[in-house]
Amino acid sequence: MSLLTALQWRYATKKMNGTKVPQEKLEYILEAARMAPSSSGLQQYKIIVVSDPRLLEKIKGIAYNQSQITDCSHLLVFAAWDEYTDERITQVFNDMMDERQLPHDTMDSYKSVILDLFETKGKEWEVHHAAKQSYISFGLAIAAAAEQKVDATPIEGFLPDQLDILLKLKEQGYRSTVLLPLGYRDEANDWLVHMKKVRTRKEVFITEMTYEDAEQSGFEAMSQGLDGLMQK
Ligand SMILES: Cc1cc2nc3c(=O)[nH]c(=O)nc-3n(C[C@H](O)[C@H](O)[C@H](O)COP(=O)(O)O)c2cc1C
Repeated sequence: MSLLTALQWRYATKKMNGTKVPQEKLEYILEAARMAPSSSGLQQYKIIVVSDPRLLEKIKGIAYNQSQITDCSHLLVFAAWDEYTDERITQVFNDMMDERQLPHDTMDSYKSVILDLFETKGKEWEVHHAAKQSYISFGLAIAAAAEQKVDATPIEGFLPDQLDILLKLKEQGYRSTVLLPLGYRDEANDWLVHMKKVRTRKEVFITEMTYEDAEQSGFEAMSQGLDGLMQK
């Protein structure tokens, strides 16, 4: 099945039937999520896998009682760093250099550029930036699930602060960002299963621009400003 066919097959399943997803399919989906690119390769997020029915029941209570949380096979909880610290970033680069068998200081100049940049942005920006990276992994997990003919529901409808307490994420320096129950559709009882997939029309979604189109935008002045920042 091509990726496009898989994406046309998938939908945000509203009712799952409780069937277990085989371990090898689960691992495939998690591996696709792990392979996601991230800003500066920091992988500033992780995934918590929950399949314990008692814990799923508790999570459902803070996810507006969405039935997929308990009717799924496995729930993936995406969680991202709650801040960027020198230690965290240094650890990522040290691990990368170890795996590549290079000295730890190989990327020191790049590391100081991003640390300086992050320092100018503030804590709120850091939380958002980390969360955005987790969504790239989330998107790949959705696509991989579809490829494996596993249903998945992207879920933002939950109370992240409460989930962070329940899953002890705060003390680990993480915040939950988004949920992905994996399982199989309950065809007989899911109102969405046979509905047409609707997307923004191509001509609205995609526009092409030329140099001439951009010429009037005032970009010259802006780009000089950005160059100045990157030379810091
Ligand atoms: C970030 C995100 C959060 C979402 N949150 C929920 C949710 O809490 N509950 C739900 O049933 N669907 C949720 N959806 C599903 C969307 O409504 C759905 O993806 C969209 O309508 C497109 O339909 P399709 O996925 O079936 O193609 C969410 C989707 C995304 C991408």
